[in-house]
Amino acid sequence: MSTETEISELLELDRTHWLHPQGDLDAAPGLAPQLLFERGSGSTLVDLAGRTYVDAMAGLWNVNVGYGRAELADSAAAQMRDLAFHSAYNGFGHAPGIRLAARLAELAPGDLEVTFFASGGAEANDTAYKLARLYWKLKGEPGRVNIVSRLRDYHGLTLGATSATGLAVFWKNMEPLAPGFLHAPAPDPYRHDPASGMQAGEAYAQALEKVIVDAGPETVAAVVAEPVQGAGGLIVPPADYFPRVRAICDRYGILLIADEVITGFGRTGKWFGMQHYGVVPDLMIFAKGVTSGYLPLSGVMLTRSVHDVLRLLKGTLPHGFTYSGHPTACAVALRNLQIIEEEGLVERAAARGARLKAGLETLRRHDLVGDVRGLGLLGGLELVRDRETKELFDPALGVGRRVFLAALEEGVIVRALGGDVIAMSPPLVITEAEVDRTVEVLDRALARVGGEIAAPA
Ligand SMILES: Cc1ncc(COP(=O)(O)O)c(C=O)c1O
Repeated sequence: MSTETEISELLELDRTHWLHPQGDLDAAPGLAPQLLFERGSGSTLVDLAGRTYVDAMAGLWNVNVGYGRAELADSAAAQMRDLAFHSAYNGFGHAPGIRLAARLAELAPGDLEVTFFASGGAEANDTAYKLARLYWKLKGEPGRVNIVSRLRDYHGLTLGATSATGLAVFWKNMEPLAPGFLHAPAPDPYRHDPASGMQAGEAYAQALEKVIVDAGPETVAAVVAEPVQGAGGLIVPPADYFPRVRAICDRYGILLIADEVITGFGRTGKWFGMQHYGVVPDLMIFAKGVTSGYLPLSGVMLTRSVHDVLRLLKGTLPHGFTYSGHPTACAVALRNLQIIEEEGLVERAAARGARLKAGLETLRRHDLVGDVRGLGLLGGLELVRDRETKELFDPALGVGRRVFLAALEEGVIVRALGGDVIAMSPPLVITEAEVDRTVEVLDRALARVGGEIAAPA
């Protein structure tokens, strides 16, 4: 714990010296809480002033096994004492990297059996796009370079991942984007209009196919998609959508890349999100939950057949990062996966997720709650001005942000996404009492903000 003076000094240094990732450079007073966290345990965080919070976002969707795990600290310390780092280039390697790649092959669906390691989700996305292009060069179809992603998908913010990301807010002022990225509409079951005569899954799969056909399938290397859209609005697709996308990719011989950065490692109540739809992708991107955020680690898994094609290259793979297969990160990941398995956290995510969803459903009694959605321990509330027309609030009102701040005041951390969606993605170890508290606090926050909107000051 720190004194008020120490905290003010830190905040002043912070404003002066730290350019925060996705930080608010021009925050309106009162709309940008500046919280400095000191420690955590389970789903609880403690800030420097000694206040406690339920972290219903698990950091950034990633602290799956919860905070304060001594086992993970111990595995990192032991590995650092032995071999903190060495390169995995040029024929070098180490046991933690090999064992982790082998363990991932056991856990991943289908014949996803080979892993390329990186550090963050965006790096892994860029890697997947480059490997997909390389695959087609080696198959004798060098014209297949386009990557089809979807509107509202979030894939990270390196240049390649920004270009795949389907959220214009991340393009603005950063253009030009990298060439070779196309965006298709993505399912929004809440807004689907059945007047088209089609079910939502079919309609949105057809919209994706149209993008492929318009571009010319012979120019498309891969389709990349999040099994559940996270940052773009916590949107769960209809059950038939991904099987249809898989069939479209197969029809045109296109690779399917699943971005499981959020949905991997139990988050949705299964080990990987695509398992809900019975779909096996050709490449699978993972990050976040693989280490529960204790160290940065990500990667791309390839099917045996994709790997066989890449091996035609012979010689050196012209891609890699200093920290690809970082031994300490791999050791922590192995221990983290062991915890998830031994403590039954995938099953627990399904059970606690059902409780969260049931609790969120009760919040429909607030006029501003338009939609309630979720899968496993991913939960979302979409706030709307008009439930009939589904019209959104004026963004200037910052309704989602106000709900987030009201919940924060009561010690619960949720996230306000664009389009006024309140997202939750708590640690898989969240207790039933903490789930209930999250819902109760949101209930009061919605009542308060709903009242403020109805009677503006
Ligand atoms: C689905 C998805 N892909 C990729 C990323 C990018 O990961 P990173 O921020 O580690 O680069 C994120 C980050 O939230 C994500 O949600």
